[in-house]
Parts: sequence; C-alpha cells; structure tokens
Amino acid sequence: MNLFDKGKAGPRFIDSLQTGENVSWFYRVQEIVKKKTKNGDDFLDLTLMDKTGRLPAKIWNNVEEYHKLLRAGDVYKISGEIRDYRGKKQITVSHLRAIASGDPGFAPGDFDESPPFDSEALLAETFSLLRDNLSDPHLCRLSEMFKEEYGPVFRQAYGAQKIHHAFAGGLLQHTHSLLKMVLAIAPHYGLDKELLLIGALFHDIGKTAEFNTQPALETTLAGGLLGHLVISLTIFLEMKNKISDFPEALSIRIQHLIVSHHGEKEFGSPEVPKTKEAYLLHLLDLLDSRLNIFSEQLKGGEAQKLFSEYNQALGTRILLDR
Ligand SMILES: [Fe+2]
Ligand SMILES: [Fe+2]
Repeated sequence: MNLFDKGKAGPRFIDSLQTGENVSWFYRVQEIVKKKTKNGDDFLDLTLMDKTGRLPAKIWNNVEEYHKLLRAGDVYKISGEIRDYRGKKQITVSHLRAIASGDPGFAPGDFDESPPFDSEALLAETFSLLRDNLSDPHLCRLSEMFKEEYGPVFRQAYGAQKIHHAFAGGLLQHTHSLLKMVLAIAPHYGLDKELLLIGALFHDIGKTAEFNTQPALETTLAGGLLGHLVISLTIFLEMKNKISDFPEALSIRIQHLIVSHHGEKEFGSPEVPKTKEAYLLHLLDLLDSRLNIFSEQLKGGEAQKLFSEYNQALGTRILLDR
C-alpha cells in the first residue's frame, strides 16, 4: 500500500466528503497562499475545487517542497484527512503529487464547475422579469444589450472570490435576488423601480473582469487596480453610449447607484448613497450577501455543535441548530 492508497476507493467529490475520513483523490488547486503560524512556522493555505464545490486545505509539513511543486490551476492527487475547522470542512494534507498519465479515475471533466442550480432557467427568469417590469425604452434596450453581451458569462460567474456567493453562478443568483427584492420593496416606498432594476443588474457586473476563477482563482490587473465598482461603471457607460439619446440625468442616477452600492467610502464606494434608490440598493446588496454567508455557514459544520465558530464577516457566532 503506498501513501496514496489510504481511504475509500472511487471518486471522492468535495460535496460528499465527511469529517474524519481519509481521502486520496484528484483536486484542482485554485489558490495557494503561504502563511505563518503564530510560532512563525510556514504553512500553505490552499483552496481546492472540483465540479461539486470548493474545499480549503492546509499543508503543515514539507511546506517548501510543496510550495515549489504546486502551481495554481493544476490538478494534483491529494491525500489527507477531512477535519472540521470553525464549522467548515477542510483537508489537512499529508501527501500530494502531480497527476500521472493513466492515473485511474482521473477525468478532466471533473473540474468543470457548474452552478448548483439550473442557471439556464434562472438566467431566463432574470431577463423575463426585467422585460415585464421595464417600460422606459432606453432601459429596455440596455437590458437587452446586457443579456446579449453578458448572458453567457453571467451564468458561470462567481459572485465573489470569497465571503459570499463565491461559486459558479453566484453572481447571477445574487443579482436575481436583488431584482426580486427591488420589486417587492420599491413600491412600498414609492421608489423608482426601473432605475433600481437597472442599477441592480449592473452593480456587480464588473466582477466578471475583477478576478479569474479558471484555471486558478486570481485577481486580474484591472480588478486589482480598479476594483469592480469602477469596472461596472465602465461597462455601463460603454453600453449606454451605444444607445442614442440616452438621457444624461438618468445615466448619472444609474452611475450613482453603481458607485455608491458599497455604502461607505472605506468599503470602496467613491460616493455614499445620496438618493433613496441608492440607499435601498446598498442595503439590499448587504442583506443578500449577509444572508448568503449564513446559508454557507449552515451548510457545512458539525451537526452536534450548537454554535458556529466566530465568523469575521458577520461579527458573531451563529446558531447552527436548524
Ligand atoms: Fe459590489
Ligand atoms: Fe453585490
């Protein structure tokens, strides 16, 4: 028995791994970060993925050797134990090696990540919802152009690299969710529904150019130097410039929704919300991202625990008893 033979036989996809089990299977390394423990020892903090999801991994031993060997985006045969860390599964890696030709069980298609829902149906629903609720001809045209140019990308895009909606289709799910909430809440306050729908549609589209997820997860040059608010703004401006006679005041109001959606300057918004619509979009964005963090936290975790570990984004431990 060699070092890679331990554990259950057959495919060990990420969504089926159980705490306590030893696995030895193929995973793509999406991200590699070298860090230091409190004692000053080096360790590697990895993100692994396959078509069923993502899994954090830690390497405590042979750090230098593995750091030289590993390249983000490549697939490795990885052995280790699944443990619970702060209510989430992760793998403590004992060994890993590059894949070899003819490795039994290795299938390149196992690393094509697909959204955890019917993204074709959700995309269609998103644009039919826009068609049904937009009457302004400029905004209708904008929504159609968005669908043509970004529809396919939108279906696969992550909503973020980490924290919330960090999976294929996450951006579509997040945006669809904002559109639904706009339709529910805008009439209650007598707000401009159409302005809000377009603001929500464009607000995070810059994320499609802010980072890459395949083969590795990494921030792009534009993402690092501009950030997604500015990229979203640019995408909006380029698109609306193709529509003749687009009203300038309407354009500025949409731009304001995009640039102020993070709510505060310290969170990357060059301007804070100064209209009711912008304020609502900011709060809905925050609400949807926070509730998604709850959902993700509730998904993993050990059933026997009552509370999660401290969650940085939420600023608290959350109740795991469903
Ligand atoms: Fe954003
Ligand atoms: Fe957002």
